[in-house]
Amino acid sequence: MTESMQAWRAQLLRFDSDGRPAYDSDGLLVTRRDADGVRRVVDAGAHAAVAARHPAVPVESLPGRLIAPGFIDMHVHYPQTDIIGSPADGLLPWLENYTFPAESRFADPAHAAEVARFFFDELARNGVTTALAFATSHPASVDAFFTEAERRGLRMMGGKVLQDRHSPDGVRDQTEQSLLDTEALIARWHGRGRLGYAITPRFAPSCSDAQMHGAAELARRHPTTWIQSHVAENKDEVRWVRELYPEARSYLDVYQRFGLLRERAVYAHCIHLDAADRQLMHDTGTAAAVSPTSNLFLGSGFFDYAGAARHGMLHGLASDVGGGTSFSPFHTMLAAYFVGREGRSKTGLSLAPSQLWWQHTGGAARALGLGGVIGTLQRGTEADFVVLNPQATPLLARKTARAGSLEELLFALIVLGDDRLIELVVTA
Ligand code: GUN
Ligand code: ZN
Repeated sequence: MTESMQAWRAQLLRFDSDGRPAYDSDGLLVTRRDADGVRRVVDAGAHAAVAARHPAVPVESLPGRLIAPGFIDMHVHYPQTDIIGSPADGLLPWLENYTFPAESRFADPAHAAEVARFFFDELARNGVTTALAFATSHPASVDAFFTEAERRGLRMMGGKVLQDRHSPDGVRDQTEQSLLDTEALIARWHGRGRLGYAITPRFAPSCSDAQMHGAAELARRHPTTWIQSHVAENKDEVRWVRELYPEARSYLDVYQRFGLLRERAVYAHCIHLDAADRQLMHDTGTAAAVSPTSNLFLGSGFFDYAGAARHGMLHGLASDVGGGTSFSPFHTMLAAYFVGREGRSKTGLSLAPSQLWWQHTGGAARALGLGGVIGTLQRGTEADFVVLNPQATPLLARKTARAGSLEELLFALIVLGDDRLIELVVTA
């Protein structure tokens, strides 16, 4: 038994299933590779107590380092890696001028494979161990994504973009074929190892009624798949949806009418929602992927954290690269903090560092329907974790040495951190 076990000794950050942090200044994380080939947490906590229970397990000591759950990115476009930092007046011109031309290149499988390799390298550099990702409308872009994720043994979700209208040549797909392709990709990839398929209508304006109905039908027939899309990101977009669907109560209601709100359905942005929308998100178990660097970069608006809390709406953090400006979870958490402060003048809500961290780990896992699987380093969960070096830069070393509490330590890492903090990534 012990030969399949391995342990790491360092400072240790975990979460309970309600998002409360647990911290050991001298911790031990004990893992075992199970019969299915996946490494899981067997025991974790204060070194003295945990080591006594596992005297024969080999231990790697990492003095001065912090072990924490791997980060989870709830919404990212891997084919937009090359258009990060492309300026535009707002969402719709950005899509037309940068996004669609870049995505049209993914008809070429060799290009898709090259970008997928770079993308996963970049996730690893930044400590991101799971993501829910858009590919493009080309099935080969999905194969490239999952082939690379499987090679690296990662827990990853993704899917082929559906967009059969209001989209230029090169990315527009055909209704019938797009649904057949989606079904074949579900059969090929969903539930293979740690991979999961996400049915991916790009957003309401880009999908015909027939394509939306087809997507919802597939989601009903495959209830453990994910659904991912965008909603209420930008005011011009919201106006466009109102023109396209005058009978719908709201933008979100369009998805509800087609049957596209359920558990494991994840909608990016969720900025221009009202109270009835937030309640509908809650009642259907639908989650919001909050994408603060994207929303600030594209001038889309500010996610209402207090509104989300009032309705118990599932939510977590996302980079939304390439609308987002960074793969780094530290940059995303800091942007979320700024967004929370903006809301604070109206609502009185402020986000604690450990809450921000939870939204990018265990809270994101819960919102994705993966509570108890990843994101907390609780016993029985998959051992995807990062080893951080709080001395990675002179300023980080100086600041973290002065931290008088866990919240102060996490805040220093969020405010000053980036990929230099990530010393090692271990995936299950
Ligand atoms: N809405 C529809 N497509 C996109 C996209 O690629 N990025 C963002 N941020 N919003 C979208
Ligand atoms: Zn997006």
